Amino acid sequence: MIIIPGPASRELGKEIAEQLKARISPIEFTRFPDGESRIRFECSIEGDDVVIVQTTGPPQNENLIQLFLMADNAKDLKAKTITTVVPYFAYARQDQRFRLGEAFSLKTIVTLLKTCGVKRILTVNSHNPSILKTMPIQIQDLSAIPLLAEYYKNRGFCNAVSLSLGKKGLDMAIEADNVLKGGYDYIPTQRDRTTGTVTLEEKTLPIKGKDVIIFDDIISSGGTMIKAVAYVKKQGAKTVNVACVHPLLTEEVTSKILSVGADQIVATDSVQSPISIVSIAPLIAEALAKKEARKRG
Ligand code: R5P
Repeated sequence: MIIIPGPASRELGKEIAEQLKARISPIEFTRFPDGESRIRFECSIEGDDVVIVQTTGPPQNENLIQLFLMADNAKDLKAKTITTVVPYFAYARQDQRFRLGEAFSLKTIVTLLKTCGVKRILTVNSHNPSILKTMPIQIQDLSAIPLLAEYYKNRGFCNAVSLSLGKKGLDMAIEADNVLKGGYDYIPTQRDRTTGTVTLEEKTLPIKGKDVIIFDDIISSGGTMIKAVAYVKKQGAKTVNVACVHPLLTEEVTSKILSVGADQIVATDSVQSPISIVSIAPLIAEALAKKEARKRG
């Protein structure tokens, strides 16, 4: 196995390779004067099982193009197999035609990766895991929620209540509760399909005087989390803590979430940000190692 850390995931790719004791093929990456990406593999990958690590957080479109360039290049340069590790999978929230005539963006991206020779995709807390089975390539979805819950547990938050946003996210709260054991619940949400605005519905939660951790897959504009923190605070939680897998938010949004009453915000390094405290390298390394072991039989 040879690991290629893409420009968007250089550190994470290196960490994964170190944990697997796998070879790395560094890439030369530059931009043409007009901003287009130029990629060159520095080592031969002919006959190798290639693993490209490239997250697709902001700037999503540029990171995706680089991913396509690397995968197609690996195909042309005769890689034996191509796996892409895409910790944050851009466009995965557009996982169906919500409104008549809309593009089914997730399917488009996966189809393009298939055309580039990708045989398998590994991702983390994809927005809608059940849709992945219908995609034209095998996609394995890993969960970083236990790692985030462990983070809080190790800091004395045993027995904190785990909350998700929306009933669809309840699996995340249950996973967290398997570690924290303080009970779990969800805040009911409604999304306006035209504007994308999320509203939180009234519900009394069993959180008065308790430590609460709100888990979500993504924080982007922060609109949802800002409302959720205020909602939990209003119901008398002792502390309100936030855990998100993919931090797409700006520092300004982080400050806003803290200013409405969050005690702390923690995220993974699926996308690098100042709050990326929990590393997903062990999670990905373990999944890749298992795959190797299965191949050896
Ligand atoms: C929604 O379904 C997701 O789980 C997140 O809650 C959402 O993507 C967060 O987006 P924003 O930070 O823009 O409200």
